[in-house]
Amino acid sequence: MATKNIWQSLAQDCGPFMRHIKKTFILLLTLAFVLSAVAYVSDFSFETVAFSQTWLTKIMNRTYYKINNITSADHTQKDLLTPLPDQQIQPRVTTVAQTTDILIYHHVAHPSNYHFILDEPDKCKQDPFLVLMVPVAPHQQEARNAIRSTWGNESSVQGKAVLTLFLVGLTGGAEAQQQLEEESRQHRDLLQSNFVDSYFNLTIKTMVIMDWLATRCPQATFSMKVDSDMYINLENLMSLLLSPNTPRQNYITGYLMWDRPVIRDKNSKWYVAEELYPESKYPTYLLGMGYVFSNDLSEKIVEASKEVKSFNIEDAYVGACLKQLGVAPSSPPDPSQFRAYLGQYNREDFLRVITTILGSPQQLIDIWKDVKKSA
Ligand SMILES: *[C@@H]1O[C@H](CO)[C@@H](O)[C@H](O)[C@H]1NC(C)=O
Ligand SMILES: *[C@@H]1O[C@H](CO)[C@@H](O)[C@H](O)[C@H]1NC(C)=O
Ligand SMILES: *[C@@H]1O[C@H](CO)[C@@H](O)[C@H](O)[C@H]1NC(C)=O
Ligand SMILES: *[C@@H]1O[C@H](CO)[C@@H](O)[C@H](O)[C@H]1NC(C)=O
Repeated sequence: MATKNIWQSLAQDCGPFMRHIKKTFILLLTLAFVLSAVAYVSDFSFETVAFSQTWLTKIMNRTYYKINNITSADHTQKDLLTPLPDQQIQPRVTTVAQTTDILIYHHVAHPSNYHFILDEPDKCKQDPFLVLMVPVAPHQQEARNAIRSTWGNESSVQGKAVLTLFLVGLTGGAEAQQQLEEESRQHRDLLQSNFVDSYFNLTIKTMVIMDWLATRCPQATFSMKVDSDMYINLENLMSLLLSPNTPRQNYITGYLMWDRPVIRDKNSKWYVAEELYPESKYPTYLLGMGYVFSNDLSEKIVEASKEVKSFNIEDAYVGACLKQLGVAPSSPPDPSQFRAYLGQYNREDFLRVITTILGSPQQLIDIWKDVKKSA
């Protein structure tokens, strides 16, 4: 008797009535399980769908909607709806003769695989205090021009020299390349590297930015990787950087992301294969829209990337390199100054923030004018 479980005993003792209850109970358990599975699945897709709807509404309506739950690459999604150019290139392997194919695959983001087609090696002779590095697709000239006429045109803030540069990958064809070179001659603020410019290659783009900073601009005190659809309040940013509490080494801050799950849904834009990143969660990282760091980190991140297998989520990858370095991302003194989305336009908000996402280049120009007008 002792070996029998309670259900057996009850069923035996009480006959068909209890057996009926037992069946009903098992049925209810199954139902509960199915319902929670459905709830889980619908909850999951809601998170992704909710964003694209928000984005669409925002674009159509020219207003902003605050979202609470964003995943790393959520916001870069929109500026990279770029068709892939036909042109494909192979990573340069000749310089690392001893490296196997596997290693090259893993270290595809390492900047030694690439070289600059357009470069500005002398830009940092002005000893900038802060360098703003903007990854942008080759065809996004309108975004570059909006930045050039707003925050990208500020060369000195609170007496400190500031420099803004754009980084693009390969263009789709010869004509686009000619245009880009003309733009480069005119503005002298374009860097171009020889990888295919695609959403998937954003990690490469970021690592090439780090490489440029490490090799062409080691004297800068701070750098910022900032997307081309961002507003920056340089006064507020400079106040943060000049604060005696802001370290000038091993420091990186922005919009902190922690405990983010790795997306394993093959249909998702942010899908990462287990073989590229086996853990189920990302280390703490900073949202790719705009993170600021002491410039010693650019060289250290490039070094660390030799040890850290590359995967296609650029901001989480930088997080993995920081973890390898033992550098913890810092929460900003006022986290509300790094905003994903602000609500409907309110001048006060833009006077307070350091950075936030905008809907279009024209919006940047309009908001900039309004914020700059003497109140
Ligand atoms: C436009 O924005 C307002 C809020 O400012 C909202 O009430 C309205 O529904 C939006 N219109 C569309 C078409 O989304
Ligand atoms: C994200 O969503 C969950 C519920 O799904 C909520 O509890 C949490 O506070 C949200 N995160 C933020 C940063 O608002
Ligand atoms: C940048 O600012 C200067 C004044 O400081 C102005 O003359 C120039 O036109 C501006 N450039 C752009 C592209 O707006
Ligand atoms: C860049 O991205 C495309 C696919 O998006 C890929 O085919 C290509 O090999 C990637 N790598 C480089 C180095 O361009």
